[in-house]
Amino acid sequence: MQVDWQGPDAVLQLLSRSGWLRSIRWVPEVDSTNRLAKSLADQADRPTPMLIVAKSQTQGRGRLGRSWFSDSGTLTFSLMLAAPQLAVDRTRWPQLALVAGLAVCDVVGEVVEPVAVQLKWPNDVYLAGGKVAGVLIETAGRDNDHVVIGIGLNVATDLSKAPAEVQQRARSIRDYADHPVETFAVLPEIIDRIAMRIADWRTDSAAIANDFSKVCLLRGRRVAIDTAGQTLEGACLGIDGDGALRVRRDDGEVVEVRSGEVVRWSDEVEVHDG
Ligand code: BTN
Repeated sequence: MQVDWQGPDAVLQLLSRSGWLRSIRWVPEVDSTNRLAKSLADQADRPTPMLIVAKSQTQGRGRLGRSWFSDSGTLTFSLMLAAPQLAVDRTRWPQLALVAGLAVCDVVGEVVEPVAVQLKWPNDVYLAGGKVAGVLIETAGRDNDHVVIGIGLNVATDLSKAPAEVQQRARSIRDYADHPVETFAVLPEIIDRIAMRIADWRTDSAAIANDFSKVCLLRGRRVAIDTAGQTLEGACLGIDGDGALRVRRDDGEVVEVRSGEVVRWSDEVEVHDG
């Protein structure tokens, strides 16, 4: 195990114990943990699975070219895996977005219990009507044979200092847990869950779809999705075994959406046969 860590000792001990990670790196400040991870993809002395954790991230990247706000209470990290660790066909790699989202959802759910935590397809973790975590999946390496799973989680983020739009849409665990939560304390559990969920997904992707359905924020709601330059509207029927979102349009046709952004959804669950 290759370790370069200046963070809390107890967190490192727990991370090391799992035996899954092969390198762990703490950076006091970085523009983006995903960018840093990608830059290390082809270096033989950087074994994977590799974890990069930032104490401070200055130019966090979000999906669809957006930026990601963080402060000292935000857990920002990237996990890089190489093709042999995934051992699944590359066409299935995009499903890792759901797998990672579920792992974060599991852990956040335990911390804020009994408050419900849900997933907004494909991988935004929602708490009390707002986003508490986001996942950015990127491929890396000369042969695109690495995948980087970047996660930003508002553990103790002070949202009052965030831009107005973020304040409105985001949530922070500290505002919902009935006990104080230290920014890095949840990291070992999240890594364990990701490792477990990847192992399950490798052998049975339908199980992931089942678990996703249980926490799917959109299932049964009317949704509007920006996809391939068009807006698709209809009733969300949940996801299929490949992780695509199933939407029944008003003309009755069921469409499977593989990539896109759900931009609106109804407050009420309206469809019960999905
Ligand atoms: C999203 O919801 O749009 C995805 C947000 C992902 C943010 C994380 S923070 C750690 C990692 N490094 C980045 O630059 N982005 C991801």
